[in-house]
Amino acid sequence: MNVLIIGGGGREHALAWKTACSKQVSQVFVAPGNAGTQLERKVQNVAIGAEDIDALVDFALENKVELTIVGPEAPLTMGIVDRFEEHGLTCFGPNRSAARLEGSKDFTKQFLERHGIATARYRTFDDAADAKRYIDEAGAPIVVKADGLAAGKGVVVAESTEEACRAVDDMLQHNRFGAAGHRVVIEECLQGEEASFICLVDGDDILPMAASQDHKRALDDDRGPNTGGMGAYSPAPIVDAEMEQTIMARIFRPTVRGLLEEGIHYTGFLYAGLMITPQGVPEVLEFNCRMGDPETQPVMMRLRTDLVDLIVAAVQGKLGSVSATWDARAAVGVVAAAGGYPGSYSSGSVIRGIEHQGSAHSKVFHAGTSLSDTGEIITAGGRVLCVTALADSIAAARNDAYESIGTISFEKMHYRSDIGARALGELN
Ligand code: AMP
Ligand code: GLY
Repeated sequence: MNVLIIGGGGREHALAWKTACSKQVSQVFVAPGNAGTQLERKVQNVAIGAEDIDALVDFALENKVELTIVGPEAPLTMGIVDRFEEHGLTCFGPNRSAARLEGSKDFTKQFLERHGIATARYRTFDDAADAKRYIDEAGAPIVVKADGLAAGKGVVVAESTEEACRAVDDMLQHNRFGAAGHRVVIEECLQGEEASFICLVDGDDILPMAASQDHKRALDDDRGPNTGGMGAYSPAPIVDAEMEQTIMARIFRPTVRGLLEEGIHYTGFLYAGLMITPQGVPEVLEFNCRMGDPETQPVMMRLRTDLVDLIVAAVQGKLGSVSATWDARAAVGVVAAAGGYPGSYSSGSVIRGIEHQGSAHSKVFHAGTSLSDTGEIITAGGRVLCVTALADSIAAARNDAYESIGTISFEKMHYRSDIGARALGELN
């Protein structure tokens, strides 16, 4: 079978690698991919952007692609699944209507409220003066979110009302996130411990992936600005078997049932960003309509089942008849970013020490990389790569990941030195 993976980040490298491991797959195409996917066995890059849906449809038709897996949210919210299906192509991911769970925070908050699913109290505004009046009444800390997609950067957890008002001005007055920020959701700041929980959904049945957790802030000790994610680990100790049951009963089942009641058939990965309150109650911070990046990297390292079997079952509505098995070991992934990320950064630096990496227990997943004309691996994005290691404990996997990343270098490379610390009880 020929499989097409859409996207070019670390998540897509991990999905492409895992897909290529499947015996039923003869060829994996990645559009546009990165240097890591280009160098992977059975994998070939295709020079088409992830949002160029017409060209992707043509490519899939011409190359007898039987299954397309969509990595990032943007093409999903643009309706790539609907478009592929119009041409009789199988595309794994939520359709445009279902992808609103990520594409509009206001839609999601209203949905959660309608179905009695726990989430922070909120109000939605498109007028800055009204928003600021509300902030003054509610007080700080308070959270300001751009309604639409903002590459993981549209959330400000404000410690003061001044900071919250500045965020409102940035989004509503200064066009910081374009149209995505012309409406803002302002919500109560929840306390507790965060966990990511990702499931496969076939419209009706739900298959949980191994629990994982990412580190969103740029700097050690969870300081600095929010990023797409600077590292991740799996399992997440806070999500034990009992918490998993609670998350399924209180969040995932009511969500999938609620969607069906509203006529929305959700097929794809569904990612819930959760805050587990000190009383042990999971509340929804956000939904994403895709796998997480970098959570995918450690999660795919631990998946022992054929990923393509699971996805084909989901596409056929037969998720109830399959199960996933997981490596009992822990996986930790550490992201190396370009200097300046999540702000502006430069590209084109040669990455040294990366050629000889990788073993049965560790893997460098590329993100923002490309091959230069002379065949060197160079930086081409903010998050450059994610070194992921598998070992008997989170502490051991973390040591292995840091040992590997220590031998890789590029100009102005930076990475956090404390990925996994929360799981080990070192961060409060
Ligand atoms: P989101 O993109 O909605 O997950 O937000 C990014 C990050 O902001 C989350 O991972 C949390 O750390 C934080 N966050 C979002 N919403 C809230 C909230 N209501 N209370 C506290 N922290 C939040
Ligand atoms: N790591 C967070 C995300 O993928 O949204």
